[in-house]
Amino acid sequence: MPARPAALPAAGPLGVFDSGYGGLTILRQIRQFLPQYDYLYLGDNARAPYGSHSFEVIYRYTLEAVEALFQRGCPLVILACNTASAKALRTIQQCDLERLGGNRRVLGVIRPTVEAVCSLTRTRHIGVLATAGTINSGSYTLEVHKIAPDIVVTGQACPMWVPLVENYEFDSPGADYFVRKRIEGILRLDPDIDTLVLGCTHYPLLMNKIVKYTPPGVRIVPQGEYVAASLADYLKRHPEMAARLTTGGRCHYLTTESADKFRESAALFMHGKVEVEQIAL
Ligand code: DGL
Repeated sequence: MPARPAALPAAGPLGVFDSGYGGLTILRQIRQFLPQYDYLYLGDNARAPYGSHSFEVIYRYTLEAVEALFQRGCPLVILACNTASAKALRTIQQCDLERLGGNRRVLGVIRPTVEAVCSLTRTRHIGVLATAGTINSGSYTLEVHKIAPDIVVTGQACPMWVPLVENYEFDSPGADYFVRKRIEGILRLDPDIDTLVLGCTHYPLLMNKIVKYTPPGVRIVPQGEYVAASLADYLKRHPEMAARLTTGGRCHYLTTESADKFRESAALFMHGKVEVEQIAL
């Protein structure tokens, strides 16, 4: 009997995951670059912030989120979260993907950001503002030095910044104190920094305050644009994956917190109404 042709892998939306609302800054940019695809966003708002959790906890939470997106048909998931990319991506790629169905993929946000940032600095001194988890992982320094070993990388954890965003306080006068403290802190650690990477997807929501306290000669680099461009390039190089993404430009949202709360906040971040469903991980 002739061998049966292998079943075609199912098509589905592109999955985008973050601990909370921060990944929406990445999703917005990705949809600008690739408006044709369908998207499924998952915010683990009930357990955010991830930033100060241990490796084991962040890995477990991220794996549960990836599994939930795979179960809902996503062939490809972007970890739109630096903390998850730093602490869980490599392990999931190396230890879990095969078991979860070897033809699905998970990508992160750190590598594309680093590839862009290495060509932006003139002084060869860059600063990374991120969660404690991302800074302590050393992932940015490691990735930068793979490309440019001469670049000096200084990290600064900003533990209050994600809670400010998650609690919708990013434009409040109280946010000024915490933003100023961390920017002055990192520039004191290395006054030669000319490029400041926002190494957390929540931080672009604090942009007004960040600009206010950053001296003019220092470039602020949010990562959404670079992640989106890198994803577009990945799909060009992997047409078999692009063909498995459904098209139509639809976007559906999942949250582990109350749907009403997410609907209200996400609508503000996304400048429009969002369709959201609460799930348990
Ligand atoms: N958006 C996540 C990141 O990029 C925030 C992490 C957190 O939940 O603390 O790191």
